[in-house]
Amino acid sequence: MCGIIAYIGHKDAYNILIKGLQRLEYRGYDSAGIALMNGSLNVYKKKGKVQELVDFAKNHNVSGTAGIGHTRWATHGKPDDINAHPHTSGNGRLTLVHNGIIENYAPIKQALEKKGHVFKSQTDTEVLVHFIEEVQKQDNLPIEEAVRVALTQVVGAYAIVVLDSQDPDKLVAARKGSPLVIGIGEDEFFFASDGTPIVEYTKKVIYLDDEHIATVNRSGEYEIRTIDNEVHTPFVDELHMEIERMEKGGYDYFMMKEIYEQPTTIMDAMRGRISAEDGWVRLGGMEKHLEQVKNASRIIILGCGTSWHAGLIAEYLFEDLARIAVEVEYASEFRYRNPVITDKDVVIAISQSGETADTYAALELAKKNGALLYGIVNVVGSSIARLTDAGSYIHCGPEIGVASTKAFTAQVTLLTLMALQLGRERGTISDEYFQALITELENIPEKVKRMLDANDKIKYIASEIKDSHNAMYLGRGYNFPVALEGALKLKEISYIHAEGYPAAEMKHGPIALIDENMPVIVIATNKSLNDKIVSNIQEVKARKGIVIAVITEGDHEINRIADYVIEIPETEEPFTPLLSVIPLQLLSYHIAVMRGCNVDQPRNLAKSVTVE
Ligand code: AGP
Repeated sequence: MCGIIAYIGHKDAYNILIKGLQRLEYRGYDSAGIALMNGSLNVYKKKGKVQELVDFAKNHNVSGTAGIGHTRWATHGKPDDINAHPHTSGNGRLTLVHNGIIENYAPIKQALEKKGHVFKSQTDTEVLVHFIEEVQKQDNLPIEEAVRVALTQVVGAYAIVVLDSQDPDKLVAARKGSPLVIGIGEDEFFFASDGTPIVEYTKKVIYLDDEHIATVNRSGEYEIRTIDNEVHTPFVDELHMEIERMEKGGYDYFMMKEIYEQPTTIMDAMRGRISAEDGWVRLGGMEKHLEQVKNASRIIILGCGTSWHAGLIAEYLFEDLARIAVEVEYASEFRYRNPVITDKDVVIAISQSGETADTYAALELAKKNGALLYGIVNVVGSSIARLTDAGSYIHCGPEIGVASTKAFTAQVTLLTLMALQLGRERGTISDEYFQALITELENIPEKVKRMLDANDKIKYIASEIKDSHNAMYLGRGYNFPVALEGALKLKEISYIHAEGYPAAEMKHGPIALIDENMPVIVIATNKSLNDKIVSNIQEVKARKGIVIAVITEGDHEINRIADYVIEIPETEEPFTPLLSVIPLQLLSYHIAVMRGCNVDQPRNLAKSVTVE
């Protein structure tokens, strides 16, 4: 996600901004920029690292005691100098930095273009600053009022700081859905996405609330109003955490921070792409190729590791909901086995990093044979994203932990939306079932949040099995790929050997492994296959295996026979992976921590495997 820093006071703003951007680098970004106010606005912004911005700015005027800065994680528009923040209004008067996604930026942009606004970038952020300019111009409003009025018409998530060059002793900030912290110094103020750039200057902070607008000025005064223009008296808090922990949002490891981000990141993956109220699902990336995708004779899905597991879930989703034949391939195998590919095939590449060499190579092979390429990628402008004909970004922000968690659930969310849209288009889902599914899908973030409440219980179970040498994960139907994913999570961060299997496969060999030292994690949330999974559990128990069952709330039968039970909320069967994977992520995390493993950087592993 993007990083924001801003300052107004009596010190040199440049050093504070640059140091603040460096403090925010851990959040992951692809470009950086600053705007300084010293009689006029000077804006410097560059694709790449903060150091490249410093190298560029040092030959320019960097004076000024007010300014804003930004590290950008691209969501709309590829990483380059033009799309980097800060963005400036058409009249050059305002400049703004933004973290979040403006969902209704397209209609706002069209209306502004009709009024003569010209845009330089592809970003939703530039639209926002032009919109504030337009609102300000209409009634000659002070900047804080123009910001407030404009935000009443904006849909989406934002944390913004705005500088008005004609009102240079003031900074205005606002937030909804993206964090923003105000640091209060002696006749000076700081704004940042979190406390890390602020803590060395002041520990007095205000955590701005959703739909609140803060106006601060050089004289040391500040005011906070709600979006409805009511004055709000904020609570002034004390920054406690040391910087290192702040970078992890207060968690010990990025992986845990990212596990806990999932209610938000799943919501972000759906943002602007689904409306249960209005009864639609729409992936913008698929619009231009919808006919070809919905009429595909076959969809081939390529991926590696966790992304391959997401692909397996997509196979169940697409065949179950859209009745389209799907083949899921390890990219590393597909690229070398001389596969049959035709121009009637649609090939979906799933990749968090967008740089996995095997996936890229497999995609090139598909392109050479005329297939339509679609990307489900997190990193905007990455190699795989640029190779595909179309795609949908999963918008989960940078994933720092090597073990993929929030990217996996965001990938599955996107693939679920795709299956729903294709099923709707092909008429393979009844109107009633479609409405039930999209209504339930919008409930998933809240249910994931409830799953996280089981953390302490899962930590206890982890303590009971942390010294095991092997583990088995079993699942059926939609939960078979989840069993594979749970096994991968455990082995890659705790170094315990773990295997995932379709539960019914036990009798074809793996059951020989079961004894009193083997924990068997059974994902048993399937209503449709419940009696079969019960017999699988009994087979394991009969051989003294330790059974940890992930069940649907209220499943008393399995509760009675399993050694440990983790409950997930009731949901539609196609959505169970989004819930059943959460306890498996937490289980592997706690076991790895208890075994003293380096959770974020496990041995022998890289976050992105960019070589064969
Ligand atoms: C998953 O936890 C691993 N980090 C690994 O399997 C990963 O999913 C795989 O390397 C694919 O990476 P990608 O999604 O960036 O292509």
